[in-house]
Amino acid sequence: MKRLVKNNVHWVGKVDWELRKFHGDDYSINNGSSQNAYLIQEEKTVLIDTVWSPYAKEFRDNLEKEIDLQKIDFIVVNHGEVDHSGALPYLMEKIPNTPIYCTANAVKSLVGQYHHPEWNFKVVKTGDSVEIGNGKSLVFVEMRMLHWPDSMATYMTGDNILFSNDAFGQHYGVKELFNDKADQCTLYEEAIKYYANILAPFSPLVKAKIKEIVGLNLPIDIIATSHGVIWRDNPLQIVEKYAAWCDDYQEDQVTIVYDTMWDGTKALAHRLATEVQALSPDTVVKVFNISQTDKNDIMTQVFKSKAIAVGSPTVGKSILSSVAGWMHFLYELQFKKKKGAAFGCYGWSGEGNAELKELLKKAGFAVVEPEAKVNWNPTDEDLDGMKEIAAALLA
Ligand code: FEO
Repeated sequence: MKRLVKNNVHWVGKVDWELRKFHGDDYSINNGSSQNAYLIQEEKTVLIDTVWSPYAKEFRDNLEKEIDLQKIDFIVVNHGEVDHSGALPYLMEKIPNTPIYCTANAVKSLVGQYHHPEWNFKVVKTGDSVEIGNGKSLVFVEMRMLHWPDSMATYMTGDNILFSNDAFGQHYGVKELFNDKADQCTLYEEAIKYYANILAPFSPLVKAKIKEIVGLNLPIDIIATSHGVIWRDNPLQIVEKYAAWCDDYQEDQVTIVYDTMWDGTKALAHRLATEVQALSPDTVVKVFNISQTDKNDIMTQVFKSKAIAVGSPTVGKSILSSVAGWMHFLYELQFKKKKGAAFGCYGWSGEGNAELKELLKKAGFAVVEPEAKVNWNPTDEDLDGMKEIAAALLA
């Protein structure tokens, strides 16, 4: 069922309460999500994006209840990823000649995924626009690498709506659709989780794009994202957050992550937390066992932190596979200007710490000198030594 966004613009997407993971298993979803698509019915009828392929039939059936599909003048594909374009092939079966406005990279992506080079693509770039009647037009803004090469936003003049696609979105199911109807605490936790786990590697590009969009001086009444809420109440609040998040974001927080075999490394982790708090009582300190905690939630906390410590016992001349996998994800996210420390227990060879430090450096962390490399179980003296790491992380 379509839902009013503003004037002749309606939401025609899918609130997806069943979704539990995204990007394969790489992103956890705990509060539902949505794939937002929009129908504009001015003198021209325009569809902006679609939904994920499992909902293609539901999407097309619902759309057909609202309009004669033949009346769609053109489709805007802001982004070719399957969660937004998945219903396109099923829709195009009914309207195969309908023009599709998208970037040149989106043509590659859509043809590569769906194998329909004959679709009526209309390639657009930043600044191109198309009139939709009633004095309104759609203006296209390429959002290259935010977060795919093909990503694009579409601005609707007159109604001042920015259809931003993934940018400013969250994996958060809000049946009421609008930001003022959502639980604000959950909304911002989901928004920062989305930024930390998906957009963070592209922060320099986010920074430049925000500057570019602000420089255009466009009035923005609504930011209609492709996931989660539609920002209608003070929509620029999320742009301000992004401006902070893309600028080497950190709070006064230290996060300690570890895995353990026989609790020696676990003891080091908790003692380090105690020492950080003793030295800096106002600093937020969090401790997570990597194999017992949602990896995306840990990454959100790492994103907020000014420093982290990572612990693993030595196993097989290396580190635990749980920690190694997590460190690879940390490398992908390319957080900047954060400190890192290594700690861990070993029985005989003790290569774990060196590997942790290498992986921290590779992930862009400034590794502090002190470390805890403890033979067998930590003694009181070993545990007291965690104070030195705490001081280095806080310095
Ligand atoms: Fe929501 Fe990049 O797809």
